Amino acid sequence: MSEIKNSEYFIELEEKHGAHNYHPLPVVLDKGEGVFVWDVEGKKYYDFLSAYSAVNQGHSHPKIVEALVDQASKLALTSRAFYNSKLGEYEQKITSLLGFDKVLPMNSGAEAVETAVKLARKWSYEVKGITENAAKIIVCENNFHGRTTTIVSFSNDPDANQNYGPFTPGFIRIPYNDIAALEEVLSKEAGNIAAFLVEPIQGEAGVYVPNEGFLKQSSELCKKYNVLFIADEVQTGIARTGKLIACHHEDVQPDILILGKALSGGMYPVSAVLANNNIMDVIKPGQHGSTFGGNPLACAVAMAALDVVQDEKLSERAEELGNLFRSEIEKLIEKTGLITKVRGKGLLNAILINDTPDSSTAWNLCLSLKENGLLAKPTHGNIIRLAPPLVITEEQLLDCVKIIEKTILEF
Ligand SMILES: Cc1ncc(COP(=O)(O)O)c(C=O)c1O
Repeated sequence: MSEIKNSEYFIELEEKHGAHNYHPLPVVLDKGEGVFVWDVEGKKYYDFLSAYSAVNQGHSHPKIVEALVDQASKLALTSRAFYNSKLGEYEQKITSLLGFDKVLPMNSGAEAVETAVKLARKWSYEVKGITENAAKIIVCENNFHGRTTTIVSFSNDPDANQNYGPFTPGFIRIPYNDIAALEEVLSKEAGNIAAFLVEPIQGEAGVYVPNEGFLKQSSELCKKYNVLFIADEVQTGIARTGKLIACHHEDVQPDILILGKALSGGMYPVSAVLANNNIMDVIKPGQHGSTFGGNPLACAVAMAALDVVQDEKLSERAEELGNLFRSEIEKLIEKTGLITKVRGKGLLNAILINDTPDSSTAWNLCLSLKENGLLAKPTHGNIIRLAPPLVITEEQLLDCVKIIEKTILEF
């Protein structure tokens, strides 16, 4: 093993002592500030992944760091065995911001999805009146909602679920962005259906933006059939797509809203499930929870992270700079055969590479982007997600477009 503590040294350590459940780009990050990260050799990069859209507020935002440090030195964790002096204020803030009666705090995105699944099932038995254990939840093909056993049970990605069975039953998968398919299932089986769980834009699948009207129409269908519309906004939420949540693009208020990632500015694992009383009140003391969910540290960090989104108008920024970014990439597409399409909303975008999904072209392109000072990661062999922190300036964004252009034209 290398003696000097360089990239090679840290990569070797992870390879040797860590489970190989990720395939990272060969760069070892050591420091971050705003839109930039630095590797252990001191090389500076634009971060165009933002920790899968968790770092919308930028790396180490001083206001979020301050909230973290202040609260950590005062009180970090109490468990929910007691009340704490941060949770209520956080709950009031997030529910009034998003227009819900109540919030259930959790930690990771997957935990929040699990919470939403349990909440919808419980509501369906106790309010809707479905026969015990008969409830089903409609999900979409190519979904990504996390990594727990139940969540991978309704994934159709073999990497996510191969040899992890037996799987949790009670899910019906329909094609994404297909209103007719949703209506068909609802019209046949609505009596046994608790909910429709959907990502407003499918992030991990490669930033698939559904047709305009899909969210509105599907939420209206859910209403018609007394089925809960659950929006998983773990990746699309907190200003990423140009609105506080992506459902707002179509004036949709989900029955259950799932948030994670940037809810804490990526500073700490904070997730949340929001719903109104007629749904949330089915969960009674002792029926769901988490040691860390709603701890004072998480609440302080999340409140600061939400303040930053509002104070710095990150939704408006994402909207404006996203439009600029896609129009610049459209110009690049005219100059090259290597990329065929750019798609996305706000600053959640992807470029499609002119190659097959099992090729290594996107990976190799990400290696070249890295050499040129920009970090991005493929979602598939031929798709690269491009999602910088929302605090990026216009000048920085145009600089990044130049890096992408140079890399692609030289590739
Ligand atoms: C839409 C969506 N839901 C849920 C998750 C899972 O979140 P976590 O990795 O925090 O469990 C992700 C993660 O990428 C996601 O994109």
